[in-house]
Amino acid sequence: KCSKLDIICFVVLLQLSAIIATNYHGYKVYEVVPMTKKQTDIVHTLSEDPKYDFWREGRIVGKPSQIMVAPEDQGGFEENLSRNGLGYAVVAEDVEEVLRQEKIERSLTRSGLSIGDVTFSSFMLYNEQMAYVRRLATDYPDITTLELIGQSYEGRDILALKISSGESETAVAKPTILIDAGIHCREWIAPTVALYILYQLVQNSSNAALYQNVDWVIAPNMNPDGYEYTQRTNRIWRKNRRLSDGATCYGTDLNRNFGYFWMHAGASNNSCLNTYAGPEAFSEPESRALRNMVQNHLENARLYLTFHSYGEYLLYPWGYAVVYPDNAEELQSLGNLAAEAIASASTIGSSYLVANSAAALYAAAGASDDWVKSVGVELAYTVELPDGDSPYAFMIPARQILTVDRETWEGVKVFHSYIEEKF
Ligand code: ARG
Ligand code: ZN
Repeated sequence: KCSKLDIICFVVLLQLSAIIATNYHGYKVYEVVPMTKKQTDIVHTLSEDPKYDFWREGRIVGKPSQIMVAPEDQGGFEENLSRNGLGYAVVAEDVEEVLRQEKIERSLTRSGLSIGDVTFSSFMLYNEQMAYVRRLATDYPDITTLELIGQSYEGRDILALKISSGESETAVAKPTILIDAGIHCREWIAPTVALYILYQLVQNSSNAALYQNVDWVIAPNMNPDGYEYTQRTNRIWRKNRRLSDGATCYGTDLNRNFGYFWMHAGASNNSCLNTYAGPEAFSEPESRALRNMVQNHLENARLYLTFHSYGEYLLYPWGYAVVYPDNAEELQSLGNLAAEAIASASTIGSSYLVANSAAALYAAAGASDDWVKSVGVELAYTVELPDGDSPYAFMIPARQILTVDRETWEGVKVFHSYIEEKF
């Protein structure tokens, strides 16, 4: 027999769980393709409105954007587009349903992965990724060094692996390539690329030449708390998982938290937004971990690549405003070379736009690329990976991981040759 108290408890719990459960019922994803310069400006204005969550970035003539809009904002959104003569397609009528389907598909494709192994046919859990990184360090001690660059807010290790054949025979130090992925945790394809680079460098012996004259330092998952959260709770979470002092909502956008022109543009002081910059620059343990990694290798670091998704862009500084650095021409032409290599290797028609990030997308200050360049790493790029044939950007199917990783690797090799030749 249950008491009155039991029943009250039950009802309260039921209501609480309904409030806590993230729910995207009725949220739609729109696809908009601006066809004129004026229309790109409209898409740009939309991207500055915190109500709209851009799943795929695109404010270039002919490049599709994907925008998630809550039910209560859809009327205004559609009206706004129509008023400006912008056509749109609804690619997802109900995001909750898309997420549900994706979860089912994911559980079907998950394979029994032995600890320490790597797979490119499903999205690995954070623990599996790190077990692989540790395994490489143990099994290949001659060429790898494990670096604990920091810990996430919830206490997870943030690891990087250095790959090097050792001291150079000449007195000249070798140039270092720095790579990270996963700053935005929902962009699952990004860590797979970093892991694939590790795999190719360390385990494919025919690539041994790639670390003779150049050192690599690769951190495959910069936001493990967020990544776990996207795996288990909310697939489309972007920020980290720390609640700032006095904040209403969880999470800081790590890619607005770096200390160069922090909060200058394209960042918010509202903790409930996806572009919340945090209470101050480097307030977050995850952005500090990347800072550590960069500072530890600053002397020889020559190139920085940070992997994001989606949109097929190779973006270079500055991003805080439309300002071109002194070496913009070099950044552009090297980016073009890498983009060409990816395009010719691509089986899914990937076609990257190489551009200054503020000019091509929007001004956004506090991103990692700007800060890394500001401390002296001349060549810095944000790579916005392709989304394959998924109708919804984030839900790139696991069967396309390898496709994207392989073609991206072709681009990474072009960057490597350039660094090897130049320094
Ligand atoms: N999609 C990335 C972001 O919004 C682009 C960052 C590009 N870099 C920049 N400094 N704005 O964080
Ligand atoms: Zn991102």
